[in-house]
Order: sequence, then structure tokens, then C-alpha cells
Amino acid sequence: MGADASLIEVDWASFDPWRIQPVRHALGEHPLLQIDQLVALGKRLERTDQTFSFNSDAGADADFNTVARTHPNRNSTTDTLQRISEAKAWMLLRHVQADPVYCTLVDTVLDAIKPQVDRVDPGMCYRAGWIFVSSPHTVTPFHIDRNHVLLLQLCGTKTVYVWDADDVEVVSDHARAHFLDCHQLDLVQWHEAFRARAHVFELGPGMGVYMPLTSPHMVEIGDGASVAMSVSYNTDASRRRALLHVLRERLCEHHIELPPIGRHPLFDSVSHAGARALVDLHQLGRRMLGRSSISDGVPYALAE
Ligand SMILES: [Fe+2]
Repeated sequence: MGADASLIEVDWASFDPWRIQPVRHALGEHPLLQIDQLVALGKRLERTDQTFSFNSDAGADADFNTVARTHPNRNSTTDTLQRISEAKAWMLLRHVQADPVYCTLVDTVLDAIKPQVDRVDPGMCYRAGWIFVSSPHTVTPFHIDRNHVLLLQLCGTKTVYVWDADDVEVVSDHARAHFLDCHQLDLVQWHEAFRARAHVFELGPGMGVYMPLTSPHMVEIGDGASVAMSVSYNTDASRRRALLHVLRERLCEHHIELPPIGRHPLFDSVSHAGARALVDLHQLGRRMLGRSSISDGVPYALAE
């Protein structure tokens, strides 16, 4: 079956992979996104580490790396999903592309947009899917991600605050680089004053938002329980941007300061080529020693 371009609506004429923009979708009635199927998925994932949850006391300033410990949800995955309206919990079903059934759903969504994305941002890879099931008035803490993201609201309402991918007043280049290098969010710190400079989206069913790599975001759930799906991916350009950030971070550790990414395109090209060659050499060395070597250019994200 071919891709269904009508599944996801974006203003493709003005689409810019580095600009936040609204999305509409037609996934609300999809059988795999109904609560009975999500409970069944939750049961399968409960045996793995692919569920992530915390309680409704966590606020915008919680650290995503520690919030499951500092604000634990003591109910089981199944119980939380079945009673989400009263559970006072935020739950994420992670890396659903690792589930053979849900992998087809991730592909259905991303295949629908790939021809349009490819025109301006080729090399789609590292596909992943994430399903968020949240009690009323829970908060997704302030954070950044390592991919381009399409956040799609299925049920309930939420307010999404998003900041530009290069807004260094909200998250410094150093904090972005540290996150991309070490996967740690300790330098991504929330301040209430940030709200004034956010792009704000009031999402209901059928609505969504596209967020480029490292766009800071924070979400507040409305008066009812919420179900949302996000699909994420990388491209040639997002992998290049991430590697440039990591290069800056590594050199910064040796007190070598590089200019901000994008200020000198030729310098970026030369430094990226050098960094890419080093990464490729490192991976080749690992393969020659019989060790595993995982590229960020593989088709699907790894459920690490
Ligand atoms: Fe996110």
C-alpha cells in the first residue's frame, strides 16, 4: 500500500526543517491508538525498560533524567493506562517502533511525510515512535530532544510551549552540546520567564506541532486525560548539526572555543568533514576488532 499523504497536513510550501510549525493529522481513529490497544502494548513493554512514568507532582522544572525517581508513579503500567483519568500520572511508552505492530504505524506516519521532507531535508533515518498517556493537569518537564519531532494530539487537550532550536537565551549552545554528547539534561534549566518568548500551541485532537532538533519544549495537560503520539527522525542535516554540537563540546573540554554553528558555513563544513572522518574511523576500528558499531544513520532508533 502506498503512502497516504493526507494523513499528515503541514504547509509544505513554506516548510523549513529548522522552523517550528503547526501540523494537522487524521490518526485519531487509528485502531492501534485506542486505549485497549495501548493497554495491550503497555503489557508487552512492561517486561522491558520501554515504559517511563512519574507522578503529577512533577513540574516544568523537573529533570527528565531523574524525574521517575524523584516523583515515582507507584502504580503498574496497566493500572495507570486503564485508570489514567484518576491515576495522577504521566506515562510514556518508549521506542514503540521496536514493537513489530507499532513499527508499521511509525512507518505509516513517516512514509506519509517523507516525500515532502526529502525535498528540503533528505536522508530520513533513525525513525522512532513515542506514545504519551497523561492524567489531567500533569506537566511534561522542560527539555530538548535529539531528533526532529512531530507531536500529534489524539485525545484531550494540552498547551505546548516550544522555543526556537537556536534560542540560546533559553538553552545555551553549551547545554545543547552537552545533551547531544552525554544525553544529560542537567544544563537545561527551566525558568518561568521563558514562557514570554515561547511559541504556544493549544492542541486538541487532530492537531499537532513540528519541532526541530533541540527545540526546547514543555507541555501542560488540560482538564481531561490526554493521549498523544510523537514520531521522530533524523536527517543528513540534523545528524550534521548534532555532530557539530558534539565537536564543539569536545573541543570546549580542551578550552578550544569554536564560533556558533551557522556563523561561518565554510568553517562548519570543514570541521564537520573532520569530525565525520574521525567518527567513521572509530566505527571502522570497532568493527575490525569485532566490536559492535552502531551508526546514527540506521533506519530505526535503537531502543536503548
Ligand atoms: Fe520531547
